Amino acid sequence: MKKFILGILLTVASITEITYAQRTPTISYLSQEQIVDIGQSVELKCSVVYGDEYPVFWLKVESIKDRLPISSGTSLIIGDSRFSISYYADNSTYTLRIDNVQQTDRGIYECRVQVAVDNPTPAYVQLQVRFEPSITDNSTNNFITTEGKSVQLECYANGYPAPTISWRRQSVPFSSGGLIIKGNILTIPSITKDDRGIYYCIATNGVGRGHRRIINVEVEFAPVVTAKRPYVGQALTYDQDLECHVEAYPPPAISWIKDGEEISNNRDYRISHFATADEISDTTLRVITVEKRQYGMFYCKASNKYGSHNTSIELFETIIPVCPPACNL
Ligand SMILES: *[C@@H]1O[C@H](CO)[C@@H](O)[C@H](O)[C@H]1NC(C)=O
Ligand SMILES: *[C@@H]1O[C@H](CO)[C@@H](O)[C@H](O)[C@H]1NC(C)=O
Ligand SMILES: *[C@@H]1O[C@H](CO)[C@@H](O)[C@H](O)[C@H]1NC(C)=O
Repeated sequence: MKKFILGILLTVASITEITYAQRTPTISYLSQEQIVDIGQSVELKCSVVYGDEYPVFWLKVESIKDRLPISSGTSLIIGDSRFSISYYADNSTYTLRIDNVQQTDRGIYECRVQVAVDNPTPAYVQLQVRFEPSITDNSTNNFITTEGKSVQLECYANGYPAPTISWRRQSVPFSSGGLIIKGNILTIPSITKDDRGIYYCIATNGVGRGHRRIINVEVEFAPVVTAKRPYVGQALTYDQDLECHVEAYPPPAISWIKDGEEISNNRDYRISHFATADEISDTTLRVITVEKRQYGMFYCKASNKYGSHNTSIELFETIIPVCPPACNL
């Protein structure tokens, strides 16, 4: 009989011991990752078993070491009215609610049962906030390069979901513009002057209208001089214009040459340059009241640090005046 009672006592003791061991507070449920839009509300739930005697915290993970305390039990610590905490006793669930979610709310939230100062039992849930792309500063800015170089245009953007980057080119006389490639990096293996111009990096992720950056690519190149008409006739005593088209970058020095000598503005000649863009100019030499000695070869010449180029225009004599410009006189 005694033995039997002892047995019961032992059993009770061991049950108590087991029960005590099981009473270690545990987080039994935590919300899955939440993805919300800016301005929405979100609830993060944390259920605890055997946690009644211990403080249950919601914290925001700021870094590996730093935590921003939000709530302790059913009281709010953070001084932000968008946050609220509620408790359902039935299932010991602490629900952290955030209204009017902002981009800054994204991150990892920690639910913690503080058993002892140095013995927390944490669990983590991620809050993702959808926000529209924003191209970051480590993306390529306007730049100048020289012909033949291999160049890389890079573009990165923040945003959630992760934005897609695509490249477009402003339409120019040499290309129709439009989409070039998708991806962070646009490589131009051996750049030519025809590759110069405006490029667009466009970041989209389905949120908002996306973000665009304009990158102006300037290519330095040696001058290319072309004559609009390499043979030009005019009758004696009439004016005639000789015209050259010059492409070069940096902008070149432009000169007109006849019989090995540079022409300057005087009563026989008038020179005018007209720049249509940084790297394009038209130059006109007006030969005023043509005299016999003014027939022959003219050269228009352009020079910059990458080189020098010229083309010839022959002015020959005609019997009948040629117009324009002669007829305007
Ligand atoms: C806890 O109970 C509340 C209300 O009774 C319910 O809304 C909530 O979903 C429950 N939470 C869990 C994790 O079961
Ligand atoms: C560019 O900057 C963003 C944000 O600052 C960063 O996430 C990304 O890793 C950077 N990319 C590179 C290639 O440096
Ligand atoms: C024009 O270019 C040719 C070929 O480079 C060169 O031989 C000639 O001297 C140049 N003429 C002038 C006037 O610069």
